[in-house]
Amino acid sequence: MTNIISKTLSSAVFTLVALAALSCSPYTDQPIRSGEIWPDDRGEHINAHGGGILYYDNTFYWFGEHKGERSSAAFVGVTCYSSKDLVNWKYEGVALPISEDPESEITSGCVLERPKVIYNEKTGKFVMWFHLELKGQGYSAARSAVAVSDKVTGPYTYLGSGRVNPGIMAENVTEEDFAWLDSLTEVPTSWTPEWLEAVSRGLFFKRDFEGGQMARDMTLFVDDDGKAYHIYASEENLTLNIAELSDDYLSHSGRYVRVAPAGHNEAPAIFKRNGTYWMITSGCTGWDPNAARMFSAPSIFGPWEQHPNPCRGDKSEITYGGQSTNILPIPGKKDLYMFMADIWRPRNPIDARYIWLPIQFDENGTPYLEWMDEWNIEEYK
Ligand code: DGJ
Repeated sequence: MTNIISKTLSSAVFTLVALAALSCSPYTDQPIRSGEIWPDDRGEHINAHGGGILYYDNTFYWFGEHKGERSSAAFVGVTCYSSKDLVNWKYEGVALPISEDPESEITSGCVLERPKVIYNEKTGKFVMWFHLELKGQGYSAARSAVAVSDKVTGPYTYLGSGRVNPGIMAENVTEEDFAWLDSLTEVPTSWTPEWLEAVSRGLFFKRDFEGGQMARDMTLFVDDDGKAYHIYASEENLTLNIAELSDDYLSHSGRYVRVAPAGHNEAPAIFKRNGTYWMITSGCTGWDPNAARMFSAPSIFGPWEQHPNPCRGDKSEITYGGQSTNILPIPGKKDLYMFMADIWRPRNPIDARYIWLPIQFDENGTPYLEWMDEWNIEEYK
């Protein structure tokens, strides 16, 4: 009898604890206010630009570019912050420091942009990719770089950089395209319809084929099956590439496609909802904001279809002053995806701000964005 009572009691306690755990949301009713100063646990404005967020072990880790007061170049490295609720952030330090060795590819003064970190379930390692430009060479190197760590906050070990998939054909480029390009007697004048057609059929793709494709603005995406993808602005920022990573995420597998050829997109950010892949990008106007673009596809390798600008309302033609960097599915919220963008301040880069907005969906399930002075994750189911 005592046994039955104690069993019943312990199962009731277990149920109560389980229910309490379920109803215990990590989020807060503190609002997210885009465009404002966001102090970290030290009271300093968060310095993690062009970044992305990894959700690992019930904690959000935000990685981004450290920006200084005068220059947009890298003099510190990739910073990391952690949070349980996406509002209160603890500074975790520099996850990948730039090097003081002048011979290093990531030497002080290089351009290190848009770092993203993903976790590899198979290897148990954290893998960081970023856009790297070699010091003193402007934006001509157009390389992708990779670093790895056993610990989420780092330090990350720099592994190297390069152009992407040298000598490997994209899945949606044909021999006919190459033959057509060979048949051109001269390169058409830039920005004419003839030139755009040549770009679209692989003018720069073919030029860079042996040495590997250019890779600037970038993001990473891990699909439900654990496969990871590197999405980057290639071909002089004229065409996006989506390239599958190897199983350890440390290199490219060789499978890749060109997306929106000659479309002039950068700042890709991607998410998947109900089996459809959505990508938001920007146009290419340096640090100045422009209208966002949006694409969807039934498979990561396409075909990708372009939609109208997802932004609505005032300043929708300049993405509310920002440029996309990442889209974060919010754990525990059934249908909440957070659009993340940077408001750049190239004259005082450290003062750059962040735009974080919930993605909304119309009656057809098409995503759109509206400016909100403030919003609260806790209000979403
Ligand atoms: C726009 C890109 O999105 C940024 O990451 C940066 O590369 C600037 N261009 C540089 O002008």
